[in-house]
Amino acid sequence: MNMFEFDLPTKIQAGNGTFQKVTTYIKENLTGKRLFIVTDPGIVQIGLVSTLQSNLAEQGFETTVFTNVKPNPRDQDCIQGGEEAEHFQADCIVAIGGGSVIDAAKAIAVLQVCGGRPQDYAGRGNVPKRVTPIVAIPTTAGTGAEVTRSSVITDTDKKIKITLKDVKIAPVLAIVDPELTYNLPRLITASTGMDALVHAIEAYTCTRSNPIADGLALEAMKRIYPALRTAVHKGSDKEARYELMIGATIAGMAFSHADVASVHCMAEAIGGLYDTPHGIANSMFLPYVIEYNAPADPKKHAIIARTMGIASEQASDEEATAMLVKEMKKLAEDISIPTFSSLPQVDKGDFDYLAESSYQNGSTPSNARPISKQDYLELFQKAYDAR
Ligand SMILES: [Fe+2]
Repeated sequence: MNMFEFDLPTKIQAGNGTFQKVTTYIKENLTGKRLFIVTDPGIVQIGLVSTLQSNLAEQGFETTVFTNVKPNPRDQDCIQGGEEAEHFQADCIVAIGGGSVIDAAKAIAVLQVCGGRPQDYAGRGNVPKRVTPIVAIPTTAGTGAEVTRSSVITDTDKKIKITLKDVKIAPVLAIVDPELTYNLPRLITASTGMDALVHAIEAYTCTRSNPIADGLALEAMKRIYPALRTAVHKGSDKEARYELMIGATIAGMAFSHADVASVHCMAEAIGGLYDTPHGIANSMFLPYVIEYNAPADPKKHAIIARTMGIASEQASDEEATAMLVKEMKKLAEDISIPTFSSLPQVDKGDFDYLAESSYQNGSTPSNARPISKQDYLELFQKAYDAR
């Protein structure tokens, strides 16, 4: 019965065909005329950026395109983006791409106005002033970055991930169009979808959960879990794509008003060191963290299993949780997510460093069950031994 705050900084335009109306939405919601488009070469290649640019040009917007964003976005690229946005005198940043692009756009919006490096604003509430407004157009159903107030950036010197958390970097407008995901490759659908599912699970179980975020998290699970296998194996299934996309956005709202927890702490540790795609990294550790956390709150973990239809109402909390762990392993296998030990870079000699890096993550205190560096070490070992 703790006090909590719930603010909604992002206007969401969602549904099939919303991408075609981007220009209208921008005109209705923003005063900007000089739009700095942040994207990556893959999105340019499939023609989405040229469509966007020509639609905007017709309505009198000036645009320029920044494509230098890599998966697990890097501090140096964001610094370059901030300088280019300032040189262009951008009055709005339009991010079109996956979570990496949207997270980079958030850091670019900060750096354009405040200068410096992303590291200068890491942590909670450290952005000193209002930043360039951001419009986010996700092309994957995963991170929920279009509605969150966080940006995860790789510190390339230290090989760790840092997180900027501030309501000032939440996009002002999100265009959530499931049609943009129809042609996503299988592994990207699988990994980003698992990321979304982990957001919902961690938002619901973490110590910073609250009743509104709980409702969103459960709704997200109900949509994401049944749609994920279908979206991966039959990418043209419009209903599955819709459920996954909307579910991912709802999960984003849930965790941005609660937190993520130890799955993300471990995923970010290996993402920083090995550049492992975020959703794949999350999937590898999810069952083991659920197993570890469940004794701290068996009831909530059982509700997850029942909400997703994995366990019946008759199953005890312990039985339901065991079924959830088993099914999360099976799901990752069915959608061809690689195992931790199969990653070519993994070296057991790194586990101590990875455990320390996970432990230092700002979301470690949010984990449902208190967790030490030694516990993390054991979880890395367990995930590795599972093969
Ligand atoms: Fe995530």
